Amino acid sequence: MKTQIAIIGAGPAGLLLGQLLHNAGIDTLILERQTPDYVLGRIRAGVLEQGMTELLRQAGVGRRMDAEGLLHNGFELALGGRRVHIDLHGLTGGKHVMIYGQTEVTRDLMAARRDTGARTIYQASNVEPHGMKTAEPYVTFEQDGETWRLDCDYIAGCDGFHGVARQSIPSECLKVFERVYPFGWLGILADTPPVNEELVYARHERGFALCSMRSPSRTRYYLQVPSGEKVEDWSDQRFWDELKMRLPLELAAALVTGPSIEKSIAPLRSFVVEPMQYGRMFLVGDAAHIVPPTGAKGLNLAASDVSTLFNILLKVYREGRVDLLDKYSEVCLRRIWKAERFSWWMTSMLHRFDDNDAFSQRIAESELDYFVDSEAGRKTIAENYVGLPYEAIE
Ligand code: APR
Ligand code: PHB
Repeated sequence: MKTQIAIIGAGPAGLLLGQLLHNAGIDTLILERQTPDYVLGRIRAGVLEQGMTELLRQAGVGRRMDAEGLLHNGFELALGGRRVHIDLHGLTGGKHVMIYGQTEVTRDLMAARRDTGARTIYQASNVEPHGMKTAEPYVTFEQDGETWRLDCDYIAGCDGFHGVARQSIPSECLKVFERVYPFGWLGILADTPPVNEELVYARHERGFALCSMRSPSRTRYYLQVPSGEKVEDWSDQRFWDELKMRLPLELAAALVTGPSIEKSIAPLRSFVVEPMQYGRMFLVGDAAHIVPPTGAKGLNLAASDVSTLFNILLKVYREGRVDLLDKYSEVCLRRIWKAERFSWWMTSMLHRFDDNDAFSQRIAESELDYFVDSEAGRKTIAENYVGLPYEAIE
């Protein structure tokens, strides 16, 4: 088999890159370990930066998002009993975010790829990249007991944190930066109306809570829980009771509860690998970096990596600008580190850290109070939340 760009992983990163390249007349083949239903069954984030919504439109997959997504001009911070509105629109000169689930983004991208007839091989096992440092890289994989070889010009490793792409780079060629937090997020999805029109990020002495949504009739709520907590120990009732305790009184009173349709715990981690390329293979999205979800940056960083790689490849194929290939990692990492910083900061400000001494606890509270009480501080939060600009490729 042969293609121009071999893409490993059919998550949002792989599918979006595939769509943009296909539209530009560059051939791609996507190899995905799971089935489409399995990929769509994962409940992930739901806040899209404006840069990502524009990229989806550019890829021709913005129609349903524009019809069904919810534009949010702000969000709320609940600090103990106090509610602070972060006016994203006013503080950033008119920017906003779009509430549209990653599952829906993925569904739209899958449908668009199916319509174009571009190739995706699902349930490909033992996917392995080879010859990345040569001019003739290739990927081997198995399907239905047969082994295949896919020759290509470049490989895009869009296979998430546990994927094979990063793991096939010799460890001495990579530097890993990592922080693991001593807690996770317990999330539930429920068919209930949102407790508030905008998202609410709540800091509370019992721990952090987040009120998010997928639509006017579907909500997503999260609670900070200690690492090692088991989802089986959290009945719906226990979840709702705990959430109410962490919200300001009027929100707790307005909360509509109902049976959960999904419940899971995700660990919190900050992770970056440098560089994000190895010869002719590029790491994209979660394969190269993880952020704690507090800043809603994970999916959006995958999109900005995709934009960078797509614009470089476009210039490589159209203008012969192979010099740009070596720029991929440094361009991506500049934006990634800023989002890593913001996500770490939001996490540090809003969560309960049991290991913090009383002094550090007060300093954290006071730091956030300072930010929200100052227009400059709120601007900083807003400008990071709506998403920093994408760097032009020239
Ligand atoms: N071979 C083939 N496919 C693989 C392999 C492998 N060895 N390992 C993983 N995959 C597939 C996974 O099954 C998954 O469908 O790669 C895909 C990776 O998708 P995601 O994990 O969703 O990662 P990405 O596309 O980078 O999406 C951005 O940012 O913060 C997050 O929630 C956000 O998941 C989102 C991510
Ligand atoms: C979500 O809706 O799942 C969500 C929203 C905002 C975040 C994280 C997750 O910061």
